[in-house]
Amino acid sequence: KQKIFKKYFKKKLRKKNRIKNMIKKGIILAGGMGTRMSPLTKAVNKQLLPLYDKPLIFYPLSVLMLAGIKKILIIVNKGQLNQFRKILPERNNLGLSIEYKEQPKPGGLPQAFLIGEKFIGKDSISLILGDNFFYGQSLTKILKKNINMKSGAKIFIHPVKNPHLYGVATLNNNKKVITLVEKPKKTKSNFAVTGLYFFDNKVIDLTKKLKPSKRGELEIIDLLNFYKRKNKLKAEFIGRGGSWLDTGNISDFYDASNFISAIENRQGLKIACLEEIALNNNWINNQQLRNAINFYGKCDYSKYLKSLIN
Ligand code: DAU
Repeated sequence: KQKIFKKYFKKKLRKKNRIKNMIKKGIILAGGMGTRMSPLTKAVNKQLLPLYDKPLIFYPLSVLMLAGIKKILIIVNKGQLNQFRKILPERNNLGLSIEYKEQPKPGGLPQAFLIGEKFIGKDSISLILGDNFFYGQSLTKILKKNINMKSGAKIFIHPVKNPHLYGVATLNNNKKVITLVEKPKKTKSNFAVTGLYFFDNKVIDLTKKLKPSKRGELEIIDLLNFYKRKNKLKAEFIGRGGSWLDTGNISDFYDASNFISAIENRQGLKIACLEEIALNNNWINNQQLRNAINFYGKCDYSKYLKSLIN
C-alpha cells in the first residue's frame, strides 16, 4: 500500500513541477523599420501587412498560443500602437491578456527584455519575432515538449539553403551547440537559428551586460553565447515535419502567402486562426466566438469562425 501511495504522490509532484516550470509569458517583438519591404512599410508596420488572409502578426501569436501561453506583451514602434490595438485590442475575444509597450527606436532584439522587464517580473519568458512564420504538425509537439524549462535558454533550429542571412549554429552529434554566429559571410553549417527563443529569468540581467555591436544594436546571438559559455543553451530541431518560412523581403513574403493559400484552400482549414486555437485550448466559449464574428464583420474569416460554433 505504501509503495502505491509513494508512486501516486511522486507522479503528482512531477505534474506540479511541470506546471510550475512552464513558460507562461511571451513577448512578440513587432517593431523594426521594415526597410527591405519599403514602400509597403512606409505607412503600415510590416507585421500588419497581409500574409494571405491575416495580418502577419497573427502567425507568431498563434505559435505562442499553441504553446499554451496566454500572457502576451507586444512591443511596437513608437507611434504605431493604435494600428496594432485596432486588430489585437487589450480587451480581446481570445482569452488572452495582451499588453503593449513601445520601442523608441530599433536597438536590437534583446531590448525586448529591457522594455519588458516589468512584464517578465520573476518569470521565464519566450520571445518570438513578429515576422516569423512557423507551420507543421511537429510544431505543437515541439512547443509542448520544450515549454517546461527550469533554467537556461533554448533555441529552435531549422535547416535552410541561405544560412548567411540568419544566425547560424553548428552542433555536435549530441545536439550541443558548438558555435553561434550572426549572419556569417562564410557559413559552417546550414542550421539557421529561428526567431523563437525561450529564456530563464536571468535574461534580464544578462541583457544589461550586453554591449552594442558594430552596427549599433544589441545582438541576440551575443546573449545566447552568454548561455552557451555557461553550458546552459539547448537547441531543438524543427525537423522536416515543420516549416519555418522567411518573410524578410517582398518575394519571400509572397511565397509564404502562396504557401498558406495553397494549404488553406486545399484543406478548408485555416492556419493561425487565433479564435480556433483559443477555443481548442478552452480559453473562450461560443459567446466569445460570436463576439469575434461581430468584431471582424462580414468576411470569409468570420464565416470560418461561424463554422466552429458547432
Ligand atoms: O528570423 C530569425 C533571425 O532573426 C535570426 O536568425 C537572427 O539571428 C536574428 O538576429 C534575426 O535576424 P533578422 O535580420 O531577421 O532581424 P531583423 O532585424 O529583421 O528583425 C526581426 C524582427 O524583429 C522584425 O519583425 C523587426 C523586429 N525588430 C527588430 C529589431 C532589430 C524590432 O521590433 N526591434 C528591433 O530593434
